Amino acid sequence: MLLLAVATFVGSQACGPCHGAIAEAYAKTPMARSAGRAEPLAHASFVAAGHQYAVAGRTLSFEMGSGRAGSASMDYFIGSNAAGRTWLREFEGYLFELPVTWYAQKGVWDASPGYERDAWVRLNRPVEPSCLQCHASRVRSVRGTQNRYGEPPFLENGVSCERCHGPGSEHVRDPAAAKMVNPAKLDAERREGICGQCHLTGEARIEKTGRQFAEFQAGMRLADYATYLVWKGGRRDFKVTSHVEKLAGSRCRTASGDSLSCTTCHEPHSNLNRTQEVCLGCHAAAHRREENCADCHMPKTKSSDANHGVLTDHSIPRLPSQKVVPGGTGELEAFTGLADARALGLAYAEMGDRRARAYLERATSVDWQVRLRLAAMEPGLVRAAALYEAVLKERPGEVSALVNLGSIYGQAGRTADAIRLWRRALEANPALEEAALNLSEVLPAAEGAEILRQYLGLNPASPAGQARAAELAKALLKR
Ligand code: HEC
Ligand code: HEC
Ligand code: HEC
Ligand code: HEC
Ligand code: HEC
Ligand code: HEC
Ligand code: HEC
Repeated sequence: MLLLAVATFVGSQACGPCHGAIAEAYAKTPMARSAGRAEPLAHASFVAAGHQYAVAGRTLSFEMGSGRAGSASMDYFIGSNAAGRTWLREFEGYLFELPVTWYAQKGVWDASPGYERDAWVRLNRPVEPSCLQCHASRVRSVRGTQNRYGEPPFLENGVSCERCHGPGSEHVRDPAAAKMVNPAKLDAERREGICGQCHLTGEARIEKTGRQFAEFQAGMRLADYATYLVWKGGRRDFKVTSHVEKLAGSRCRTASGDSLSCTTCHEPHSNLNRTQEVCLGCHAAAHRREENCADCHMPKTKSSDANHGVLTDHSIPRLPSQKVVPGGTGELEAFTGLADARALGLAYAEMGDRRARAYLERATSVDWQVRLRLAAMEPGLVRAAALYEAVLKERPGEVSALVNLGSIYGQAGRTADAIRLWRRALEANPALEEAALNLSEVLPAAEGAEILRQYLGLNPASPAGQARAAELAKALLKR
C-alpha cells in the first residue's frame, strides 16, 4: 500500500544551501533573533518598581526594602533588543518570566510589563506556550502542564522560515515536486493570516472549539482557528500587537482594499522598509514629496502595554496631531472570525465583564473553556464541581480547575481528593502559590513545610508563603 507523506517542520538551516542569499539576510533580522539561550551579562545594578536588583553573568539577584533577598538564573531571553529584551528562568523544564526587562531604545533596565506596581519581587509568573509561539519556533510544550517544556524548550531561536512558508520536509527532499507556501501567491485572507498569527491579538483572541492555535500554519485561514474580538468603533488604546488592526482601519486601506498589506511596505527577509515609495505609488500627486511621509502620517506613539517602547501608528492618520485613539462604544465585535455567543462570552469573561455569563449560557458549543468560565461564576458548589470535573476530563492539567475543584472537595470534607488535585496542580506548575498554600493547610505540618520550602525556593519573596512557613515552623517547634 502507498502512503502519502505529510510534510513536517525541518528548521531554517535546511533552507540555506539552496536559498543562501535569503537565509543570510533573514538571519540578521529582529524576527530571526527574537529568542534564545541567554548569554552572560556584564554586572549592572538598578532599581525597578522600588526594588534593588543586580544582574551579573546569568544571574538576577534582588533585595527588597524589607531586607528580603533572593536570586534567579537567567536562562533564556525573549526579544531581539530592537525594542528590548526580557529573561526567562528555567527550573526542571518549567519556564518563568523574570520581573525585569532591558529597554534598548532608552538604554535602561526597568520592571517588565505587568510588574510595575508589584509590592514584592515575584518570580513565579509562568511562561505559557503562546508567548514562545510568537517569539520562537518549533516550541516543545509538555501536554498537561501550564509551563513545562522539552529540553531545549524550542528548536529555533525566533521566527523560522517555515512559520511563513509552511513545513518544509517534502520540499527539501524534492523542491520541484513539493512546493512551499508562497505568500505572494495566496488570496489576501491567507496571506495576511501569516503576519497576523503574531502581529494581531485584538482585545481578545478566542480559540475555536476543538482547535489549537499552536497548530495554525502558513496558508491556512486565521478565522478557522480563532475569533479576534475588538471594540466596536475603534480601539481604546494602543497595544503592541495592533499593527494589523491599525492598518485595517486606515483610510488608505479601506479605500484601496487588499492591495495594501504588511508586505507592501515591509520586505520580511531583509527587514527593508519601502514606505516612502509605497506612499508615492498611490499618492503620485502628494504634497511634500521630498519629505518623509511617515514622519507626519505614521507618527510614533507610546503603546499601552510595553514600557518605554514606541510604536509606529499604522492607521496613517490625516492630521499628525489627530488623536490616535477613537473611543470604543463598549461592545465587542469580530475583527476576524465569527463572534458567536461562545466567543463573546469567553472574551468578556477574560476581561472580567459581567456580560460574559449571559453569552456563555447561550453558547451552542460547550467545551472546557466555556465550562471553566461558567464554573468560576457558579455560586452553587455542586454545579461548579460538576463543571470543573468535566473541564479536567478534557484538560487534565488546567490549573485553575485543579485548584478550585480541590477547594470545593476540601470544603465538602473530601480532603484526600483535594490533596490529589492540588498535587496535580503543582505538577502542572510547581510555583503555583494557591496549590502550595492549600496543601500546607491540610497536610501534616512536616509535609506542609516541605511543600512550602520547595515553593519558596522558586518564589522566595512571597509574603503569604513566608507567613505560612513561619506558622508551620512554630507549630513544628512546639511538638
Ligand atoms: C534542495 C534545494 C532546496 C531546498 C533545501 C529548499 N528549497 Fe525552496 N526552492 C528550491 C527550488 C529549486 C525552488 C523553485 C521551485 C520551482 O519553482 O519549481 C524553490 C522554491 C521555494 C519557494 C517559492 C515557492 C513558490 O511557489 O513560489 C519558497 C517559498 C521556498 N522555496 C522556501 C523554502 C524553504 C522555507 C526552505 C527550507 C525549509 C526551502 N525552500 C528549502 C530549492 C530548495
Ligand atoms: C501574539 C504574539 C505575541 C505574544 C503572545 C507575545 N509577543 Fe512579545 N512581541 C510580539 C511582537 C509582534 C513584537 C514586536 C513588537 C512590535 O514592534 O510590534 C513583540 C515584542 C516583544 C519584546 C520587545 C522585542 C524587541 O526588541 O523588539 C519583548 C521583550 C517581548 N515581546 C516579550 C514577550 C514575552 C515575554 C511574552 C510572553 C510572556 C510575549 N512577548 C508574548 C508578539 C508577541
Ligand atoms: C515573516 C515571514 C517570512 C519569513 C520568516 C520568511 N519568508 Fe520567505 N517570503 C515571505 C513572503 C511574504 C514572501 C513573498 C514575497 C513577495 O511578496 O514577493 C516570501 C518569498 C519567499 C521565496 C520566493 C520568492 C523570493 O522572494 O525569492 C523564497 C524562496 C523564500 N521566501 C524563502 C525563505 C527562506 C529560505 C526563509 C528563511 C531563511 C524565509 N523565506 C523566511 C515571508 C517570509
Ligand atoms: C511567528 C510570529 C511572527 C510572524 C509569523 C511574523 N512576525 Fe513579525 N515579528 C514577530 C516578533 C516576535 C517580532 C519582534 C522581534 C524582536 O525584535 O524580538 C516581530 C517584528 C517585526 C517587525 C519589526 C522589525 C524591527 O525592525 O524591529 C516587522 C516590520 C515585522 N515583524 C513584520 C512582519 C511581517 C510583514 C510579517 C508577515 C510577512 C511578520 N512580521 C510575521 C513575530 C512574527
Ligand atoms: C494602495 C494605495 C495606497 C497607499 C500605498 C497609501 N495610500 Fe493613502 N490613501 C489611499 C486612498 C485610496 C485614500 C483615500 C483617498 C480619498 O479619500 O480621496 C488615501 C487616503 C490617505 C490620506 C487621507 C486620510 C484621511 O483620513 O482622510 C492620507 C493622509 C494618506 N492617504 C497618506 C498616505 C501615506 C503617508 C502613505 C504611505 C505611508 C499612504 N497614504 C499610502 C491609497 C493609498
Ligand atoms: C504603508 C506602509 C506600511 C505598511 C502597509 C505596514 N507598515 Fe509596519 N511600519 C511602517 C513604518 C514606516 C514603520 C516604522 C519604521 C521605522 O521606524 O524604522 C513600521 C514599523 C513596523 C514595526 C516595528 C514597530 C513599530 O511599530 O515601529 C512592526 C512590527 C510593523 N511595522 C509591522 C507591520 C505589520 C504587521 C503590517 C501589516 C499589518 C505593517 N507593518 C504594515 C510602514 C508600514
Ligand atoms: C510635515 C508634515 C507632513 C508631511 C512630511 C507630509 N504630510 Fe501629508 N498632510 C499633512 C497634513 C497636516 C495634512 C492635512 C492637510 C489638511 O487637512 O488641510 C496632510 C494631508 C495629506 C493627504 C490628504 C490630502 C487631501 O487633500 O485629502 C495626503 C494624501 C497626504 N497628506 C499624503 C502625504 C504623502 C504621500 C506624503 C509624503 C510624500 C506626505 N503627505 C507628507 C502633513 C504632512
